Amino acid sequence: MFNQVKGTHDIILNDAEKYTFVEQNLVAVAQTFGYKEFRTPIMEYTELFNRSVGDSSDIVRKEMYTFEDKGGRSITLRPELTACVIRSMVNNKLFVNQDYPVKGYYVGPCFRYERPQAGRYRQFNQFGIECVGSDSPLRDAEVILLGYQCLANLHFYGVTLKINTLGDEESRNAYRKALKEYFAKHIDIMCNDCKARYELNVLRILDCKSPEDQEIVKGAPKIKDYLTPKAKEDFEKVLKVLDDNQIPYTVDESLVRGLDYYSNVVFEFHYSTPSGTDYGALGGGGHYHSLVKECGGPDIPGVGLAFGIERLVTILDEYNAFEEFKPALDAYIMPIGEAQIEYGIQLANSLRGEGFMIEICLENKGMSQMFKKAQRRNAKYAIIIGEDEVKNGTVNLKDLEKAEQVTISIDELSDKLGEQYHEEHHCCCHDHNEEEHHCCHEHDDEEEHECCYKKNRK
Ligand code: HAM
Repeated sequence: MFNQVKGTHDIILNDAEKYTFVEQNLVAVAQTFGYKEFRTPIMEYTELFNRSVGDSSDIVRKEMYTFEDKGGRSITLRPELTACVIRSMVNNKLFVNQDYPVKGYYVGPCFRYERPQAGRYRQFNQFGIECVGSDSPLRDAEVILLGYQCLANLHFYGVTLKINTLGDEESRNAYRKALKEYFAKHIDIMCNDCKARYELNVLRILDCKSPEDQEIVKGAPKIKDYLTPKAKEDFEKVLKVLDDNQIPYTVDESLVRGLDYYSNVVFEFHYSTPSGTDYGALGGGGHYHSLVKECGGPDIPGVGLAFGIERLVTILDEYNAFEEFKPALDAYIMPIGEAQIEYGIQLANSLRGEGFMIEICLENKGMSQMFKKAQRRNAKYAIIIGEDEVKNGTVNLKDLEKAEQVTISIDELSDKLGEQYHEEHHCCCHDHNEEEHHCCHEHDDEEEHECCYKKNRK
C-alpha cells in the first residue's frame, strides 16, 4: 500500500463530479464575460515566479516545489497561474496587434509546500481569470463583478467581499517609508517572519497572523493617508461600480495579499460555514501594474482573480448542496440469459446516443442480482429483456421507485424515459415557463432546437 503524498488528495467518483460541476459553472461565467481558455504547463522556470510572485512572498521563500532537471535547469511546479498565463500571453505574442484587453481563464492544479489543514493542500486546484491591457479601474471592478457572479451562480449567499487599495507606485513608496518608521520601534519584539518582512517587504507585516503582532499592526499608519489623488480616485471608481451593482463589501485596510505583484485594488472573498470551520479565502485577486513588463511584455497593467476549487467544493458539501446534483442512472438494462445480451447492447447504445445514462449487465446474472445492481446504481428504471421481448421488439420497463411495470415497444422507449426526465429535471423546453426554469428563452420550438432532454442534459 502506498500513501498519497502529504497534503495531496484523490478526487474520485462522486467527488470528481462535484469538482467538474463547480469548474463548469465557473468557466461558464468567465465565458459570459468574453474570456477564452488558457492551458499552460504545470512546470515553469523558477525565475518566472521569483520575479513575479516575488522574492519577499512566503510562496517564493518557503513554499515552492523547486528542483533541478537533468539539464541542470531550475524548474518549479507552479504555485499559481497568473505568472504562467502572463508568460504565455507574452510568448505567444498576444500583445502584438491585439485588441486590448487580452482576457484568459484557466483551471488547473497548483503546488505549494504549506502546512496541510482544513482547506489547505499542497496540491490544489484553481480557477482564475486574467484581464490584461486596460488601465481603467472599471476593468478592476468588472473582474470583481465576475468573481461575485461566480459565487452567486454556485448559490453562495452572504459572501464577504474584503477590498483595499495598495495605491500606485508613488503612494506605496510613501506608505512603505511611513511603515518602516512605525515598525522600527516595535520590530525587536515581533515574530521572526515579521523581522524578515521588515527587510524584504514591510507591507507584508500587515498580513501577520500572530495575535501579539496584530495588536502592533492596529496602530500602524493607514494606506488611505498616503494615496495620491489619482490612486484615491481610481479606488473610488471601483467602489462606485460595486455600489451601483448592489455588491456589498468591506474596506479592509490590512488586506495586502500574499503575492508581490499587486498594486492599486486588491480583494478577497470570504464565507462563514455552518460548521464554523475557517477554510481561508474562497478566492482573491487584484490589479497588477508591472507584472506584464516583468515577464518580458509591454508596459501594460492587468487585473485578475483566482478561486480555490477545493474550498468551494468543501463548503458546498457542508451545505449538502450536491444532493440535488446526484446523478442517477436513467435505466439499468437486464438481459435475461446470454442470448438477450447482444440485443441489450444495441438498445443501450441507441439510448446513450440520445443522451440517456444507461448501464447494462453483460455478465449473465440472475434477476435478483441484477435488481440489486440497479438499486445500487440508483437507476430510475429497469429495462428487462427476455426471449419474448427480443422476438416482439418490446421491453419490460419497470419504474423502480413506483414498482410499476409495463411492456412497451422499443420505439416508445426513448419517449417514455424522456417523460421521466422532464418531470424530474425541470426541462426547459416543454411545459415549463421560462422564468421559473431558466428556459432557453430564445427557443420555442423543441423540434427545431433539439429538445434538451436528449442533448443538453446537465
Ligand atoms: P491566492 O490568494 O494565492 O491568489 O490563491 C487564490 C485562491 O486559491 C485562494 O483564495 C484559495 O481559495 C486557493 N488556495 C491558495 N492556496 C491554497 C492551498 N494551499 N490549498 C487550497 N487552496 C488554496 C493567487 O493565486 C493569485 N494568482 C490570484 C490572482 C489572479 N491575482 C490576480 N490574478
